[in-house]
Amino acid sequence: MAGFSERALAIQPTGVRKMFDMAGDDVISFGLGEPDFQPPQVAIDAMCKAMRDGHNKYTTTAGLPSLRRRIAESWNQYESGMDESNVCMTMSGTNALLACTLAVLNPGDNILLPEPYFPLYAPDATLCSAEARFYPCLFEHEFVPQVSDLESLVDENTKAVLYNFPSNPTGATLNITQRDELLEFAKRHDLWIISDEVYDRIIYVDEHVSFLGTGYENLLLVNSFSKTFAMTGWRIGYVLSPNPDTITQITKLQYYITACSNDAMQYAVLEAFDGAADYPEQMAVEFQARRDLICERLNAMPGVTCHVPDGAFYVFPKVEVPNLTSEDVAIELLKGGVLCSPGSAFGESGEGHLRFAYTVGREDISRGMDKVETVLARLRGDD
Ligand SMILES: Cc1ncc(COP(=O)(O)O)c(C=O)c1O
Repeated sequence: MAGFSERALAIQPTGVRKMFDMAGDDVISFGLGEPDFQPPQVAIDAMCKAMRDGHNKYTTTAGLPSLRRRIAESWNQYESGMDESNVCMTMSGTNALLACTLAVLNPGDNILLPEPYFPLYAPDATLCSAEARFYPCLFEHEFVPQVSDLESLVDENTKAVLYNFPSNPTGATLNITQRDELLEFAKRHDLWIISDEVYDRIIYVDEHVSFLGTGYENLLLVNSFSKTFAMTGWRIGYVLSPNPDTITQITKLQYYITACSNDAMQYAVLEAFDGAADYPEQMAVEFQARRDLICERLNAMPGVTCHVPDGAFYVFPKVEVPNLTSEDVAIELLKGGVLCSPGSAFGESGEGHLRFAYTVGREDISRGMDKVETVLARLRGDD
């Protein structure tokens, strides 16, 4: 048989999916990172209308100018003066991340990635024949990276650093001082910043802290409507950069990756911008109540310590069960009726943690936490 490429063989399925595939239908699922809400009705109606109106064709590769302008405008409070030339539509954040890594990484380059991480980052680097180097985001630092750790990883082949705030899997966010330190680090070494800000609208503080609007030109901001408008299955996102030349390169690559984004869907997202402007905030109110509930329940369990995150919809508690790995604990919880992800699925430093996505209602969170409490007490021999 003819062989497969080294790049295909070098990447593996993610550990998050592994638990999901083992789960039956009757579990309470804290497993997957998608909102349990439907997209706003105005977007669904606009999508149907756009299809009926004949928007079922290829669009330009960068996407509908009116939508790109609207997206650029939506970042006005961070950086004014941007327009459609600053945005390229993609078919999801996942697609946007790949386009960004392809745009900046050469074989032999390395990119600094957070650990624990969203599991796509390292394989994207591998697909570019580049090296993934991981900087720690540790529990004791509220999952915020330390510049000294980043400094120890840089060499002459370091081309980019990827930041992800609010973070999956930890929910960590940055304050302005922390953001500026991370920015200065990138400036000092003339690195690209790929900033994955797909959770920018799911936050529990006044304002999202972005890498946009800092005057740094070597910035690729990745975003998506999966979380913002609960459209995970629609597959629509974008890359934004303060420098239009960067978007020209992304657009060129996008042509060869997907030709363009989805025609009717771009009209639907445009409609949602005005017709459902406060939709993400409404979801965030509910997510915040769930966050409070799940953190309170987890922190009351012996051997469990959980930060209360300011963004995204994940908690990443430290769970101490002697002699068992996080995967062992997740499997035991699954047998007890609860699906969550072992911390090790997000990199070595995730060991000793579990990730719970609070994308189920409050009643299910309470029932799920009852089960977690029972299983952990048995495993720890607390009863
Ligand atoms: C941090 C992060 N980035 C990017 C994505 C990709 O989102 P999508 O491909 O649905 O736009 C996700 C999805 O879970 C994520 O958690």
